[in-house]
Amino acid sequence: EQNISIAIDGPAAAGKSTVAKILAEDYSYVYIDTGAMYRALTYKAIQEHADLENEELLKEILSDTKIDLIPSGKGQLVYVNGENVTEVIRTHEVTNSVSIVAKHASVREEMVKRQKDMANGGRVVMDGRDIGTHVLPEAEVKIFLRASVLERAKRRHDENLSKGFESDLEQLKLDIARRDKLDSERVIAPLKKADDAVEIDTTSLSITGVVEEIKKIVKERL
Ligand code: C5P
Repeated sequence: EQNISIAIDGPAAAGKSTVAKILAEDYSYVYIDTGAMYRALTYKAIQEHADLENEELLKEILSDTKIDLIPSGKGQLVYVNGENVTEVIRTHEVTNSVSIVAKHASVREEMVKRQKDMANGGRVVMDGRDIGTHVLPEAEVKIFLRASVLERAKRRHDENLSKGFESDLEQLKLDIARRDKLDSERVIAPLKKADDAVEIDTTSLSITGVVEEIKKIVKERL
């Protein structure tokens, strides 16, 4: 058995975390959700009423912020300086601000350093926006998931409704499109398929279908 790394990138709500969690469970690998790290910093900065455009300040806040991702059951718990923020980092407020925080060069530099350390040794499934391009450029398996904005908004919408949350499909479409734009147009490490990543369009695939396709690719690389 080999200690490979699996990098999964793609736009918001493309199913990355769902698929990554299943793969990690099936291979007994560690799942690392890098988006949760940017969300955790955003949560902390909002709490401190920081100006999210202020790169120096964000960098300083990050240096005082210990972010722990703790594997738990089929997922992962997120802690900021010992506080369990697993749920609060998923609020609209954080979701709609995270791409501002994530655009700063010095924030990304520190996050990438922490992420490389966490993945050191392999046996990880890491999801994000720049994993195949910057965090794990040597990953044995690189996947880029795509799906239409409407499909992604619908999935988020159904997920919200099933959890009993209020949900507005039109608003979700706008929010997802805005986040895609910010993430793919930023100067530093924008959302982009790595040249050697395999692209999978999940629009008309089931979760199991996507997992099976990725497992085929993993087998070829082992
Ligand atoms: O994956 P998730 O939607 O939770 O990511 C939240 C945000 O964090 C993204 O919209 C993006 O701005 C940022 N992010 C990033 N690089 C990563 C992971 C997430 O810039 N590797």
